[in-house]
Amino acid sequence: MGLVFEGIPVELTAELKKVNKIDCFVETGTNKGNTAAWAAKIFEKVFTIELSPVYVRLAGQKLRKYDNVELLEGDSAVMLDEVLKTNSGKRCFFWLDAHYCGKETGGFGEKAPVLEELKKIMATPENHCILIDDARFFNAPLSTQRGEYPDILTLASVIDSSRYRLFIVDDCVVILPSDAENIAAIHKYVWKYDFLRARKTFSFYWYALKTGNFKGIAVAFLLLLKLYKYKDKSSADY
Ligand SMILES: C[S@@+](CC[C@H](N)C(=O)[O-])C[C@H]1O[C@@H](n2cnc3c(N)ncnc32)[C@H](O)[C@@H]1O
Repeated sequence: MGLVFEGIPVELTAELKKVNKIDCFVETGTNKGNTAAWAAKIFEKVFTIELSPVYVRLAGQKLRKYDNVELLEGDSAVMLDEVLKTNSGKRCFFWLDAHYCGKETGGFGEKAPVLEELKKIMATPENHCILIDDARFFNAPLSTQRGEYPDILTLASVIDSSRYRLFIVDDCVVILPSDAENIAAIHKYVWKYDFLRARKTFSFYWYALKTGNFKGIAVAFLLLLKLYKYKDKSSADY
């Protein structure tokens, strides 16, 4: 799975926004409003939907200084209709992240709304960018307090494969329009982070090299070759 980052992959999001010329960010599951606050700085308009009244209040305090954020209270599987209608004709960036996550968050013991959300997004004619958090939940579907998750095949079955492609990157399910520009953006991102990971590993062996450990020296040499290979790939003309 590569590096696992918590939360939204910010670099990838910014790149996809640019490639697809998207102004509108839609989040399901606001929680404290951290991602919505970040999105408000780079997207022209942000819609975020939260089920728990406690977290609507908390997020409301954080988000009130952003006049481009609309915080909606309710079940995202239902509220999404309104958001899709408002943005009809526009491409949107979706961050689907609604599920129970402890304390007084919503959805305790409920089915996660992601499948319903995805069906509604697929029913629109625009080609959107869709990121779903916690890819590992689909890999080993949970039926616990965090809610019931569909398995990855069920998830994939609602995607219109004539228009979209699905990738798993950094614990996110990434669903993108299947044109060359989007494919290039995701490839570039994956290679870049593999390169960074290789560089981090290399610095570990660099220490062995400095301290004169023979095995460390040999592995460092091999890694250097590998790094060189990654460097070529990351700068390839995608
Ligand atoms: C993991 S948190 C979201 C984190 C947030 N997206 C972020 O990136 O900072 C999940 C949130 O989804 C909310 N939630 C659960 N079920 C929901 C539903 N059906 N509709 C909307 N929100 C829901 C929970 O109350 C919780 O605050």
